[in-house]
Amino acid sequence: MRLSGRIALVTGAAGGIGRAVALCFAGQGSVVIVSDIDASRCSETLELIEKAGGSGWLVQADVMHEDEIRLLYQQIVDRFEKLDIVVNIAGGDCEPSADVEDIDYGRMSANLDLNLKSCILSCREAARVMKPQGYGRIVNMSSLVYRGSPNQFSYAASKGGIYAFTRSLAMSLGRFGITVNALAPALVEVPAFVRALGPERWEMLQKDCAQRYPLGRVATPDDVALCALFLASDDAAFITGQIIEISGGARL
Ligand SMILES: NC(=O)c1ccc[n+]([C@@H]2O[C@H](COP(=O)([O-])OP(=O)(O)OC[C@H]3O[C@@H](n4cnc5c(N)ncnc54)[C@H](O)[C@@H]3O)[C@@H](O)[C@H]2O)c1
Repeated sequence: MRLSGRIALVTGAAGGIGRAVALCFAGQGSVVIVSDIDASRCSETLELIEKAGGSGWLVQADVMHEDEIRLLYQQIVDRFEKLDIVVNIAGGDCEPSADVEDIDYGRMSANLDLNLKSCILSCREAARVMKPQGYGRIVNMSSLVYRGSPNQFSYAASKGGIYAFTRSLAMSLGRFGITVNALAPALVEVPAFVRALGPERWEMLQKDCAQRYPLGRVATPDDVALCALFLASDDAAFITGQIIEISGGARL
């Protein structure tokens, strides 16, 4: 098992990608703290972990609130006295498909708060725990739109900001034995998308993407989870400050 004895925090653990990461890490021997704003779906994730013989703990937190992020880490340290791995996955696009003239201050701010500021604040708390212990693995969730995407202005800016922040943090924390990397998936098939679009529109979207991606399909949550596992494990001990595109070759 690649994460035996590790304590890992996964935010967004009620969602499609977060659940896959949490299950994957628990299956590799880590105790997984599953956190999300959605306690009910998150408890389903915990149940799945326990059914599979793994071990976890649920802490509900809204990552758009600094005090809740602080409390989340405080509770982890109080209970486990250490934290080896953090995967910051909570996020989403609060302003999809807006023309530039129609950028809305509230939705733009929500994108920056939910995706970028939450990541920075979570990493700040992670560093406070990991620096003294001289060990840590941080994996942040960017997106392939970090390269830019028409009509996804504030979301792209937030995910590009995560990349810049990840590199900056990797430069600062390397000498403390802490690696910091980011994931940049193209389209991933998650239940939330299918729910939001409905099966027909989802089918059209994923067919269109699959045609454009050299590997001929969209990503699964497990594609992302396996990459997160690699970066969180000691196999990736000498990799830091990187963004890994999980894109089937899209936008090569
Ligand atoms: N699905 C994709 O195609 C795709 C591609 C690239 C990047 N991403 C990124 O992956 C991450 C996970 O997305 P997903 O596809 O699994 O979608 P999802 O909607 O299933 O998961 C997002 C999770 O974040 C949680 N969340 C939302 N706001 C929160 C808050 N304020 N505090 C705490 N938790 C909150 C939601 O409850 C949900 O469980 C996001 O950061 C998203 O931007 C997704």
